Amino acid sequence: MCGIVGYIGPDQAYDFLIKGLQRLEYRGYDSAGVALLDGGLKVYKTKGKVSDLVSLTEGKDTTGSIGMGHTRWATHGEPNDINAHPHLSQSGDLCIIHNGIIENYASLKEVLLERGHEFVSDTDTEVLAHLIEDIRENEEVDVFEAVRLALNEVVGAYAIVIISKNDPDLLIGARKGSPMVIGHGKHEGEYYIASDATPIVEYTREVTYMEEGEIAMVKDGQLTIKTIQNIEKTPYIHKLEMTLDAIEKGGYDHFMLKEIYEQPKSIYDSMRGRFSQEDLTFAMQSLREYETKIRNLKRIIIVGCGTSWHAGLVGEYLIEEFARLPVEVEYASEFRYRNPIINSDDLVIAISQSGETADTLAALELAKENGATLYGVCNVVGSSIPRITHAGAHTHAGPEIGVASTKAFTAQVTVLTLLALGIAEIRGQITKARLREMFTELEQIPGKVQKVLDSCADKVLEISEKYMNVQNFLYLGRGYNFPVALEGALKLKEISYIHAEGYPAAEMKHGPIALIDENMPVVVIAPKRGYYEKVFSNIQEIKARKGQVIAVITEGDEKIKSIADHTIEIPDTEDALVPLLATIPLQLLSYHIAVMRNCNVDQPRNLAKSVTVE
Ligand code: AGP
Ligand code: GLU
Repeated sequence: MCGIVGYIGPDQAYDFLIKGLQRLEYRGYDSAGVALLDGGLKVYKTKGKVSDLVSLTEGKDTTGSIGMGHTRWATHGEPNDINAHPHLSQSGDLCIIHNGIIENYASLKEVLLERGHEFVSDTDTEVLAHLIEDIRENEEVDVFEAVRLALNEVVGAYAIVIISKNDPDLLIGARKGSPMVIGHGKHEGEYYIASDATPIVEYTREVTYMEEGEIAMVKDGQLTIKTIQNIEKTPYIHKLEMTLDAIEKGGYDHFMLKEIYEQPKSIYDSMRGRFSQEDLTFAMQSLREYETKIRNLKRIIIVGCGTSWHAGLVGEYLIEEFARLPVEVEYASEFRYRNPIINSDDLVIAISQSGETADTLAALELAKENGATLYGVCNVVGSSIPRITHAGAHTHAGPEIGVASTKAFTAQVTVLTLLALGIAEIRGQITKARLREMFTELEQIPGKVQKVLDSCADKVLEISEKYMNVQNFLYLGRGYNFPVALEGALKLKEISYIHAEGYPAAEMKHGPIALIDENMPVVVIAPKRGYYEKVFSNIQEIKARKGQVIAVITEGDEKIKSIADHTIEIPDTEDALVPLLATIPLQLLSYHIAVMRNCNVDQPRNLAKSVTVE
């Protein structure tokens, strides 16, 4: 979603703010703005890109050692210059930027209008600025207390930064439902605020992840953190592992390509140290801590959105196969509103790369209210979902900057594989011999992923050139590869804007086969595992209707090679681990087609990396 940055310290703020916003561009936005305090308060904001903001400030006064910056993804009020952030209070003294939604802004605005407030924008954020000032004036309290009291009236999600013209040594930040990180600068009294660590990492590695409902204030060079219930908290300083080059493109044309090629490492990192091949044990704290709970589980519910939901579907097949435990996979956005049955002995697993997806967070809150045990599979350390879940296992995929999720997906599937095996082992559903087989094969996967990356690129380029201008694609898979078909279709849709649908291969005869003709390319995931003969028949049905078949096959499979139009070979592996290999060529296919179509691969139109609002 949008990005926020703030600075207070001895240096000029402007450069950090602009560079910070550039580092946050990947989150998706439609407007940008900055505010600088140096005696007077200077606000520059515009619809468009950060580069448009830089153009706007050219030749202008951008001095100030206190400042804030914002990239907006509109929720209330169309993207335009007026609705861009920062926003001012009635007097113009208070200045605010905000990520999230003030859900009760309309009722708050009504009261403020009756009290004579005038608004210039259509945003919910501007209401918050006016509310804070209204409280400060009527309760005769300082800005910090006014912010705290105001946030107690707010319903919704926020990460806000506030500066005050009349308080030239003050910077306030607060968060609830949207992420915020504080960087501890090298100079006395120097602090950075940002939505995540990427704008901060080149200045300091010492960060504090703000907790839900916390307010941070830097005044007279001192950092204080309190909750909105006015309880003082001691800032925990976390040492950032992420290096700057981890967020650079590393020589690739796009973050997405870099992240596709990082998968041997990200998959390895997501399993590293979590099981021992020697003594066939797991080293996952969450499994240990909840062993009794897991032994008595009757059901698992998996919630997620988009690609994470696809990973959840793979998780369902894994857990049901190995642990013989019923699993339901739910779109978080549906789950949170359909008044689902949630039992206190349920385990609810939330899958989320960002750990900030509003629908997934809300689904977890609902599960929590019903007494279920919450488990998170997230990629961003310090994000909101790991904070509200009882247990969890991070995917150690590293920062995923490309909006289209790639390495996070395979990392999620890796963690879910370990979870399925771990749960099976706790519930006595897997033999030591079978566990050894799976561990042995899991350890081969990073190398096999590298082999796919090394071997399929030319073939994928050839296929991409042939089909870059088609209007539609179909993706088919059975069993573990049905979710892979869905994920392949989503990848193509979201970055090349070609319509694509994923289906269980057997579903073709129930309608979609009517679409097949010589203009319809059909990607079929057809490993020599699982339902090979049935998928082979599906391919024949497509060929009989002149469809173009692109088959992902097990290396050396001459049978499908003899009938498919194109084949991409992957190494043989366990049926349950095919998704980790079959996904790779589909990611590359969507990437190359999108590049050939001159699409914005890392920041596709209309999309945001993390959907932190509904
Ligand atoms: C995936 O390529 C998309 N960018 C999108 O579907 C994403 O998976 C979804 O928004 C969920 O995000 P999360 O994993 O951060 O919760
Ligand atoms: N709700 C605010 C607005 O529409 C902030 C949106 C965002 O998170 O960027 O301006």
